Amino acid sequence: MAKFADHLIHHTIINPFPGMTRLEAVLGHPLSVRVSSNESMAEPLSPLAARFGSEIAELARLYPDPYAFELRQRIADRYDVMGEEVLFDSGADSLILLALRLFCNVGDTVVCSAGTYPTFRYFAQGAGVNLAEVPYQQEGSLLRADLAAMVELAQRSQAKLLYLANPDNPTGHYWGAQDIFNLREQLPADTWLLLDEAYVDFCVAAQDKPPQGILPNTLRVRTLSKAYALAGLRVGYALAPAYVVNKADQIRPQFGLSSFAQLAAQTVLDDRHFSLQLIMATIAMRQQLSVKLMTRGLNVLPSSTNFVAVSYESSERSLAIQQALWDAGVAVHCPPHPAVRHLLRITADPQALQDKVIDILARR
Ligand SMILES: Cc1ncc(COP(=O)(O)O)c(C=O)c1O
Repeated sequence: MAKFADHLIHHTIINPFPGMTRLEAVLGHPLSVRVSSNESMAEPLSPLAARFGSEIAELARLYPDPYAFELRQRIADRYDVMGEEVLFDSGADSLILLALRLFCNVGDTVVCSAGTYPTFRYFAQGAGVNLAEVPYQQEGSLLRADLAAMVELAQRSQAKLLYLANPDNPTGHYWGAQDIFNLREQLPADTWLLLDEAYVDFCVAAQDKPPQGILPNTLRVRTLSKAYALAGLRVGYALAPAYVVNKADQIRPQFGLSSFAQLAAQTVLDDRHFSLQLIMATIAMRQQLSVKLMTRGLNVLPSSTNFVAVSYESSERSLAIQQALWDAGVAVHCPPHPAVRHLLRITADPQALQDKVIDILARR
């Protein structure tokens, strides 16, 4: 079995403030008088109440449930796992950082694709680990993680963790369930798989179904930023073996996920129609954008996400196009890693279909 970071292995850390929801669960009855948390007195003249309504003012006044019990239960039911196997935090990003803190000592090696989601690299550098990068495999203009080379490097470097974004950012490439099972099987048992599934909600075709449930020695990270329209509220969750969730809960800032974010997440999760509609509309928009760009002779990478990546012949070209778009008041993303700087990443959004955007993207 894979191991936690050395200082966490034989150490159970007690959360000094487990929150009211957990206390009520332990006591077995609700608590109606709440004078234990040094929150503000309720103030009817709160400007928040005037602007957003009294429910928001009251949520803002009180500390949230550190364990997001209501949300865990919803995700557990939806994906047929146990509540103890679900972990919520403020965005997938926070969970990536948490994974590094959970599994890595300073100086340990972690493996990823050169040019994948740059926040992983950013956090890895901050955590003091040794980042071992594997070039993408290129087939024509298609770019995808070289899983065999990543496994080989993980074995050779005794990596503590392997990061794979699936679908990937910025390439948009998606590996199916069988490839993920094979990857997990081929990795050394003591190398954690950090599977970043931020875009997996867009993989709705029958043949694209992701693996179900909990995978051994794997932390699957997801977000409500993409298919639930909550990026600004910062809500992400992970699916992982219960003992991993338990340990993660010991080292997380308890109140990272605000009360309002929790309630908003419950609301969008409960409205299945909303996210399904958004997912289908996004896929249609991505398709429309891809076709429009390809019609103009651009090289568009196949995408399983809510963005498309255009591959230019050089980074000089992509950077010049980005500059021209900036000059026209249009923001598109050029990934910072030299291995993928020839790509421009454009979100599937009606604004991207404007002639001024397409014309500049296709400029020779
Ligand atoms: C691959 C990947 N992981 C994680 C995230 C961050 O998700 P969140 O907004 O939940 O932090 C993104 C955001 O673009 C992403 O592309």
